[in-house]
Amino acid sequence: MPLLDWLNKQDAVHTVQKVSYRLLEAVPELGACDPNTENMLIQGDNLQALKALLPLYAGKVKCIYIDPPYNTRSAFTHYDDNLEHSLWLSLMYPRLDLLRELLTEDGSVWVSIDDNEVHYLKVMMDEVFGRKNFVANVVWQKRTSPDNRLRLGAAHDAILVYKKNAFTQNESFNQLAVNEGRMKDFKNPDDDPRGAWASTDFTGMTGHATPNQFYTIVSPNGKSYPPPEGRCWALAEETFKKLLADNRVWFGKDGNARPRLKRFLNEMDGQNAWTWWTNAEVGHNQEAKKEINELFGASDAFDTPKPERLLQRILQIATNENDLVLDSFLGSGTTAAVAHKMNRRYIGIEMGEHAQTHCQPRLKKVIEGEQGGISKAVNWQGGGGFHYFRLGETIFDEYGSIHPNVRFAALAAHIWFCETRVPLANRADSPLLGIHNDTAYYLLYNGILGDRRPQSGNVLTQAVLDGLPPHNGRKIIYGEASRFGKPRLEAENIVFEQIPYDVRAV
Ligand SMILES: C[S@@+](CC[C@H](N)C(=O)[O-])C[C@H]1O[C@@H](n2cnc3c(N)ncnc32)[C@H](O)[C@@H]1O
Repeated sequence: MPLLDWLNKQDAVHTVQKVSYRLLEAVPELGACDPNTENMLIQGDNLQALKALLPLYAGKVKCIYIDPPYNTRSAFTHYDDNLEHSLWLSLMYPRLDLLRELLTEDGSVWVSIDDNEVHYLKVMMDEVFGRKNFVANVVWQKRTSPDNRLRLGAAHDAILVYKKNAFTQNESFNQLAVNEGRMKDFKNPDDDPRGAWASTDFTGMTGHATPNQFYTIVSPNGKSYPPPEGRCWALAEETFKKLLADNRVWFGKDGNARPRLKRFLNEMDGQNAWTWWTNAEVGHNQEAKKEINELFGASDAFDTPKPERLLQRILQIATNENDLVLDSFLGSGTTAAVAHKMNRRYIGIEMGEHAQTHCQPRLKKVIEGEQGGISKAVNWQGGGGFHYFRLGETIFDEYGSIHPNVRFAALAAHIWFCETRVPLANRADSPLLGIHNDTAYYLLYNGILGDRRPQSGNVLTQAVLDGLPPHNGRKIIYGEASRFGKPRLEAENIVFEQIPYDVRAV
């Protein structure tokens, strides 16, 4: 497959392995309400934050939306968008790499971008996500009128959509309700008692056609219709006859036009989304500005927000209630606010100060029942909560030792993920972290079995072993030291891993 190359690409490709693993440090005074919520707002560079999330959230995120800097070379108040082209590509590659790891197997990623980088990003995403997993390039009409400052005014942004794995035969995105724009297509010119209907094409592509899709249809007024040149009929002749008998075929008002199928409004669950998203349906840049200005009572509260309706559309298509949504370029917090109002769980990451000055207060307002954006459309009444985090210590200090501030649960999550490549289901509170492929993983570390002195339980001794939850099969035990020799370990079916030397960085 042809690949994109740029200055220092190889560094970018290996960045993820080199990023040190950090802990996330809760800032309780900036969180809000419901202490049991999983929702997270993280302030910090998303490269480190995403890596910190891996042990807990790898394979768990249903939908990722990101709206990274577009590399437009114009000055923004809130971030430096003037990254050199190669730098921009090197910024994106490792982040996409990590985002992919966080997606569920049926998850999808949606990336807003404009003409400056869309084609480069497409090729890079083909490499990271797999070309076969590309779904579509959505065209979002972001403006309401031409920009006269430009010779050819940009009216749209792209949203590149990839699945982690291509759709299976029976899988699809959620459908959308038939929108008002399409309602005008539903009429009832033949007074059908089943109500309004719209006619749809009855021809199909010949690629997978069967022989019984090639037949001649005779209209009520006697005109013969073989399939049009290079096409077949959409359905086999027997099915067509049943539809005809049920008055579901339309030959035009004069009964002589080429047949089309009647689709009744009251029989439609919804319709598949398509890639043309008008500003009337999902909002535009000015609407987004208005939303954010109203929230903050300012005239220019944030430079580059997205409208809530745009995120609503994405989450409608790609998620269901309670699914986990992630935005690692959170900006003013739109994705998190919309996810919150639509009862999705979410993680938002923003490195700028506006994590605290915009996202945090915005989400607090949402919890209090804020009525802007999509609130009325989804009947938002308030409630819920979120936790606020900053990036904390690295797991390993400069000498390669485990940092003294690292607590048991954090180290447990890290070790479990390194060993199994799946996230730990619950916060660890027992030296038995879990059993994976018939192997039990144990961690003897400060706090859980006493203090950090060898005699306190961080060292594998007979007494400590007797106190551990038993497992008949293979056991991998992490601890500071072991008093067992090799034959004894083998007899007990134990592999001993010494902290910190055998603890790998992810
Ligand atoms: C275009 S804005 C996103 C706007 C957002 N969609 C909204 O509706 O408000 C991009 C954001 O990404 C943030 N950002 C850029 N690089 C980042 C990084 N490495 N880590 C975390 N955030 C980053 C910027 O601070 C900026 O707020």
